[in-house]
Amino acid sequence: MTKLIYILNGPNLNLLGKRQPEIYGHDTLADVEARCAAVAAEHGMTSKLMQSNHEGQIVDWIHEAREAAAGIVINPAALSHTSVAILDALNTFDGPVIEVHISNIHKREAFRHHSYVSARADGVIAGCGVEGYTLAVRRMATLLA
Ligand code: DQA
Repeated sequence: MTKLIYILNGPNLNLLGKRQPEIYGHDTLADVEARCAAVAAEHGMTSKLMQSNHEGQIVDWIHEAREAAAGIVINPAALSHTSVAILDALNTFDGPVIEVHISNIHKREAFRHHSYVSARADGVIAGCGVEGYTLAVRRMATLLA
């Protein structure tokens, strides 16, 4: 069966391309979705990108992924720095998890330096712009091969 990768995105990433482009760039989440789908297809996989501004919705999608997805790429956005609930949900998922941050969170304010999700992530990509998402999908192909 074709392996499906969930690409989950947290609060405010619906505004990608419009929101602080000096930090997050001009590409939209739809651009990211299309590029990830193309890279997934190169590796015989499929991807499904989702975004929510609500923590509980992201928890629900992680639970859904337990049955539906082979791996999870996640940019939890601001919830990275606050959400034990997302960490706990990811700990119920058996497959690989790659955490993505568009910006280099370690170069920014101190409150962004810690991510709860990193305690579960098999890999973390930060500061590579939206290219981080396609890098994560490529890494997923290696981990799932
Ligand atoms: C982000 C970094 C977070 O600190 C911030 O709250 C975001 C986006 C990133 O992709 O660089 O919303 O996760």
